[in-house]
Amino acid sequence: MKFETPAKTNPIDNLKVVGQPIHRIDGELKTTGRAMYAYEWHDPNLHYAYGYPLGSSIAKGRIKSMDVAAAEAAPGVMSVVTTLSVGELGKGKLNTAKLFGGDEIQHYHQAIAVVVAETFEQARAAASLIKVEYQEESGTFDLAEAKMSAVKPKDTDGAPPDTAVGDFDGAFYAAAVSMDETYTTPDQSHSMMEPHASIALWHGDELTVWTSSQMIDWWRSDLATTLGIDKEKIHMMSPFIGGGFGGKLFLRSDAVLAAIAAKATGRPVKVALPRPLLVNNTTHRPATIQRIRIGADKSGMITAIGHESWSGDLPGGGPETAVMQTRLLYAGENRMTAMRLAELNLPEGNAMRAPGEAPGLMALEIAIDEMAEKLGLDPIEFRILNDTQVDPEKPERPFSHRNLVGCLKLGAERFGWNDRKKPGARREGNWLIGLGVAAGFRNNLVMPSGARVRLGNDGVVNVETDMTDIGTGSYTIIAQTAAEMMGVAVDKVGVHLGDSRFPISAGSGGQFGANSATSGVYAACVKLREAVAMRLGFNSDDVVFENGEVRSGNRSVPLAAAAGAEGLVGEDTMEWGDLTDTHQQSTFGAHFVEVGVDLATGETRVRRMLAVCAAGRIINPITARSQVIGAMTMGVGLALFEELAVDTRRGFFVNHDLASYEVPVHADIPYQEVIFLDETDPMSSPMKAKGVGELGLCGVSAAIANAIYNATGVRVRDYPITLDKVIGDLPEVA
Ligand code: MOS
Repeated sequence: MKFETPAKTNPIDNLKVVGQPIHRIDGELKTTGRAMYAYEWHDPNLHYAYGYPLGSSIAKGRIKSMDVAAAEAAPGVMSVVTTLSVGELGKGKLNTAKLFGGDEIQHYHQAIAVVVAETFEQARAAASLIKVEYQEESGTFDLAEAKMSAVKPKDTDGAPPDTAVGDFDGAFYAAAVSMDETYTTPDQSHSMMEPHASIALWHGDELTVWTSSQMIDWWRSDLATTLGIDKEKIHMMSPFIGGGFGGKLFLRSDAVLAAIAAKATGRPVKVALPRPLLVNNTTHRPATIQRIRIGADKSGMITAIGHESWSGDLPGGGPETAVMQTRLLYAGENRMTAMRLAELNLPEGNAMRAPGEAPGLMALEIAIDEMAEKLGLDPIEFRILNDTQVDPEKPERPFSHRNLVGCLKLGAERFGWNDRKKPGARREGNWLIGLGVAAGFRNNLVMPSGARVRLGNDGVVNVETDMTDIGTGSYTIIAQTAAEMMGVAVDKVGVHLGDSRFPISAGSGGQFGANSATSGVYAACVKLREAVAMRLGFNSDDVVFENGEVRSGNRSVPLAAAAGAEGLVGEDTMEWGDLTDTHQQSTFGAHFVEVGVDLATGETRVRRMLAVCAAGRIINPITARSQVIGAMTMGVGLALFEELAVDTRRGFFVNHDLASYEVPVHADIPYQEVIFLDETDPMSSPMKAKGVGELGLCGVSAAIANAIYNATGVRVRDYPITLDKVIGDLPEVA
């Protein structure tokens, strides 16, 4: 099915199941430990071996030699495969850095060997016995230094690095009020709970891989390319994922090493990336330096807005797209954005937790706060004044639906924004208290997504799609979609995900999963409904699926009976027409935060948070709320804690474990509230839904920064906002 015209009324609009607060159908499996994650997969008939990876201890250069004799002779060791012994491998289309094979080292902790032994401990012990001789080369590891040599990158996901409208320089120079500031965000690590892990097993030339992947088909294709085998020979499964956050979008070394180790030993081999290796071995969100310039007239109308961003990556990589939201969020006749890319020899930079908008809004939404203050305007008023209902770079393109103003107004009312005082003016005991706000914005992408739906003679509907559930609720919303379409209760739907034998889906990423994957299930259900109607000789135009029955006119048949002995199948893929070209499809939010800053130490504690989201139809308010709460929590991390410390001499992230890379824990997270505006977007899909997970993160960190400013009068423009950046400028208080 191709979605080419705005959705009309369809069976989803009945909202008997869709839109209802249904608890996770996979919740019990998870809370009872029966959900099998990649490394836990266990078949009592198989005799598993354990692979332990070794990472490079230099960032750039070549391996001259590797001595594996001691490792091979160690107890329990079956095989040692090195990057030299395996020779050059292929490189996946979506991989920037190569994952294994050959003598070239492109980044620190690149995989250079896998030791296979009877036990994990034996493999780990033997890996430490491998001696490596390197020929080290000098590299570039410091973005601030490399910024001077940054170049204009090629288009990223079809978007140009630069945009310009009107005369930015002239308008900025002539503006009655203006600001020009530079902000920085550090390198950040996904820090999902479940590390990258795979089990591989060969039967002749056929490979089975249990893994932890957000995108089954991307992984399967790139694993085939890496190993130089036919994709059809790979059966890949990833039914449960303990968090991805973008770190599992692209094939990683665990799957490659497991496949190679299994080949070398003839055994099923488990490989998990040890946490201390994971951070430098995989990808991260690259650091940014962002310069923002805004000019406005005295009334507060933006006349010029400019956003430039510098980031780095390995040769062949791309930029962090931190300027994207600035192209769309606020009005203003004269505009410019630019991304510049420096070549760095740090580990690969790539997508993490709302790439682009998350770090971009960390800068832009402080800048808007600063500009509002210069203008003497309330920051909400300033945003409302500069709202736009059309793409400000291409005014002939309207937004499909945009209610940023509604989010800001409702949030202000619910959060008690009117109680906000001047900076430094509110004190409770040892705490300075402040309120902050930021706009939330994230584009709504759609991806082709397929599904197969089977109706059995027991009346049960089974959905099969290679869609993944990375903790987001995919199982549940897919069950709701099929239940609504086929007129059955949710417990009459079975959902089977994450298996390459199923139709190729959108996968989980870029907050496109929920809307795209349920749309694919919708399309498959339309086919199944037609098959049912045809079998019963019903006119498919007036047929109704309700309460486990199929009705047409005054005839009614139980769905189970319609299935016939052998059942019926519907399969289709949702494809997308040009509604995303003719209309800008985005999601909107307003983030409100109250912080307390310790007036002696400068320590910030977040006290209250509210997110108001406008993201089309909410398919399940429970799973959607959990997504937003998780995202708000990530926003606290990015604002206050998260930073990969770069060793700019040797080229690696020093704090490569969860002890020293700090993410928020329960005690850091206060009262959180989420409100969804009641809306639908018929341009987005037959579901009339949009993504919401990443929206929940976009803007939060700036709201925290703005709240810290309101509490203390200290404006910090370099994340994370640790106490050392605040303490020196705290107001003198008796
Ligand atoms: Mo998300 S960073 O696109 O998995």
